[in-house]
Amino acid sequence: MSVCAFRAHILHCLKDPGDTTTGDAFEYFADGLLLVENGCVTAVGPAPELLARQGGDVEVVDYSDKLIVPGFIDTHIHYVQTDVIAAHGRQLLDWLETYTFPAERRFADTAHAQEVAQFFVRELLRNGTTMALVLGSVHATSVDAVFQAAADAGMRLIAGKVMMDRNCPDYLRDTPQSGYTESRELIERWHKRERLLYAITPRFAPTSSDAQLQRASQLAKEFEDVYVHTHLAENRDEVAWVQKLFPWSRSYLDVYDHYGLLRERSLYAHSIHLDDADRERFVATGAAVSFCPTCNLFIGSGLFDLREAWRRGMRVGLGTDVGGGTTFNMLQVLNEAYKVAQLQGFSLSPLRALYLATLAGAEALYLDDRIGNLQAGKEADFVVLDRAATPLLARRTDLARDIDELLFALIMLGDDRCIEATYLRGECAHQRT
Ligand code: GUN
Ligand code: ZN
Repeated sequence: MSVCAFRAHILHCLKDPGDTTTGDAFEYFADGLLLVENGCVTAVGPAPELLARQGGDVEVVDYSDKLIVPGFIDTHIHYVQTDVIAAHGRQLLDWLETYTFPAERRFADTAHAQEVAQFFVRELLRNGTTMALVLGSVHATSVDAVFQAAADAGMRLIAGKVMMDRNCPDYLRDTPQSGYTESRELIERWHKRERLLYAITPRFAPTSSDAQLQRASQLAKEFEDVYVHTHLAENRDEVAWVQKLFPWSRSYLDVYDHYGLLRERSLYAHSIHLDDADRERFVATGAAVSFCPTCNLFIGSGLFDLREAWRRGMRVGLGTDVGGGTTFNMLQVLNEAYKVAQLQGFSLSPLRALYLATLAGAEALYLDDRIGNLQAGKEADFVVLDRAATPLLARRTDLARDIDELLFALIMLGDDRCIEATYLRGECAHQRT
């Protein structure tokens, strides 16, 4: 592969910007250049300087009036719920029964799984998402389909087969043994193949028996570098149910802790109803949370306390949680994240929001040595944002006095129309038409 250069406004985070917008937490180049070779960033900086250093023989893609940021990292999404997005009127437990389980049943059909997987990967890329942590259905073939679709696109993806052996319809039930064996086979088939990684995925504590959680735990011990991915403390009825099912537990989190499922590379979606002891366990074990504001608001679950999680030093990424979430677009998810924080008296800064959708996700998944920003050596996954995608955006961003204001306008007013192009390892994977 040859050297390629992209000229644009370029913005990325080097670490958590915290509450301030000064210092060394980010880099912004108003006339920037991103140099890519063999799929990885070789340099990022001011265009005139870098071009002078290159000599004349570099091909430059001109996005001068656009903003390049790192590709978005969606830390929690169900590809098998693509078709239940925007289903009206339920809260978590009856939403699962009414809409979700019947939709997931269709993934027993491999042709259906392949068709949805291809749509799903295209939709991620159309929205500027370059990496996602994905749940399949209970059917192992559903995970084959989404891994294949990601591999065909050259996309980085983590996925897993849902393990679920009780409190669900018979047609979606596996067993401790089949859940173990099929997950193991998927790990052997896909983990670390190209850009793909595997996540052991018990759906949530209520749908796994003690025997199944023990098998999940065994797998986690046998494969130390795979992910663990599940749901935690999303809804109050769910929390009360877990207390009944596991009467010995100190808290919902304690159930997963008991089975050895809290560790680095374990990710817990929602985690709304936590206490301080739970937060301490997150920090002590290196486990992470996926904050899914569009879903939390849509199915009425509650407000995740982002400020407290950050204050304690927890790892937190951002998730769409489609189909409980209402969009694939991470700008829109940030829009809702901002409002969830506002309702709790916390003002999420624009740069910290960008961090949440990019580098924080990479850190939550222990992939920040490869993705999450545009430093030299990183995989060149990035998105080209059009600040003038709509008349209102053009008008508002014309008035922006600095990059914070411009970014905030994109978060509040932006959506898929702002995604001019999405690049995977320096190759264009989506171009807006
Ligand atoms: N808890 C268990 N399963 C699910 C699911 O599919 N979506 C959400 N939002 N929460 C869950
Ligand atoms: Zn979910």
